[in-house]
Amino acid sequence: MQGTILVIGASGQIGTELVTALRQKWGDKRVIAADLRPTDQPELLSGPYIQLDTLDRSAVESVIDHYQITEVYQLAALLSATAERHPEKAWDLNMNGLFILLELCRAGKVSKLFWPSSIAVFGPTSPRLLTPQRTIMEPTSVYGISKQAGERWCEYYHLKHGVDVRSLRYPGLIGYRSAPGGGTTDYAVDIFYSAVENDSYTCFLSAGTMLPMMMMEDAIRATIELMETPASSVKIRSSYNLAGMSFTPEMIGQEIRKHQPGFRLDYVPDFRQSLADSWPDSIDDSAARDDWGWKPEYDLARLTEKMLVEIRRKKQASGETSGLHGA
Ligand code: NAD
Ligand code: SER
Repeated sequence: MQGTILVIGASGQIGTELVTALRQKWGDKRVIAADLRPTDQPELLSGPYIQLDTLDRSAVESVIDHYQITEVYQLAALLSATAERHPEKAWDLNMNGLFILLELCRAGKVSKLFWPSSIAVFGPTSPRLLTPQRTIMEPTSVYGISKQAGERWCEYYHLKHGVDVRSLRYPGLIGYRSAPGGGTTDYAVDIFYSAVENDSYTCFLSAGTMLPMMMMEDAIRATIELMETPASSVKIRSSYNLAGMSFTPEMIGQEIRKHQPGFRLDYVPDFRQSLADSWPDSIDDSAARDDWGWKPEYDLARLTEKMLVEIRRKKQASGETSGLHGA
């Protein structure tokens, strides 16, 4: 990688971890973190951090010029649950945030763009099991519609203008370093914090809701691996299916009970249930494996142990010991 990287939406669940990983790889000064919000997170302040509205095209262009940016990771978006509450805002941010960057790529201001899609591009008419890379896609959520349209624009700008845009259909992402930002899969992070703090959790999805999920470390590695793949090997320019594992809330509950036998799990499904019900159970990511060698490292057992250990460590470090015993 030559030049400088800009991560927009850097204060979010993925951005916080991606900035850290990119700075470890390329150095603090070569990774510019940008978000609408100010931050006091030390990992984001280890290098340049700027407040930026991704919908302000001239401000984005000024930042690109000022820092001589060559690669952009565009992460700013409204996630599925928030998007259902604010459809117009979600469409504006999720579409125009991408469109402005695609245009700046077309104008030669940026040479490579990463933009994440989601399993939400699929809908109730898509095959549920091992959903293929190419299949029926009739998303029924505001978020899914915006991601599907975004994928079409990415492919169009690549085919029509040669823009080097790369994308992954992330499953639900689970990590301990940053909080999730309004998605349907957020329960799979919340459950671990609640297990450590209260030894119980009330889940907003039903016990048997199977969804594709992934440990954040795997997702960050996939993102950087895709961005480092030679352009000729990136054969899909809409977005790659990406899989880690699939599980239900009850399956995480059983795994947590191996570490905390008294863990109690209740279910009070809300509006997010219908979003989850419209998404696949599992994903076929053979195109990512074939084209750029993708392979996940975490399964549910490893993920559960890591989440519990790291959250307890965080609690202890901040003086909030829960009294629960280590895994
Ligand atoms: P998040 O909500 O945690 O973070 C998004 C960040 O964007 C926030 O910090 C927010 O302040 C910022 N932002 C919002 N409006 C902005 C604006 N106008 N200008 C600049 N910044 C703005 O989201 P995330 O979970 O980190 O997701 C990042 C991307 O990955 C999104 O495109 C999301 O759709 C996609 N994705 C996430 C998951 C997941 O499980 N987290 C799964 C699939 C896809
Ligand atoms: N994790 C995301 C959400 O639930 C899926 O893209 O919105």
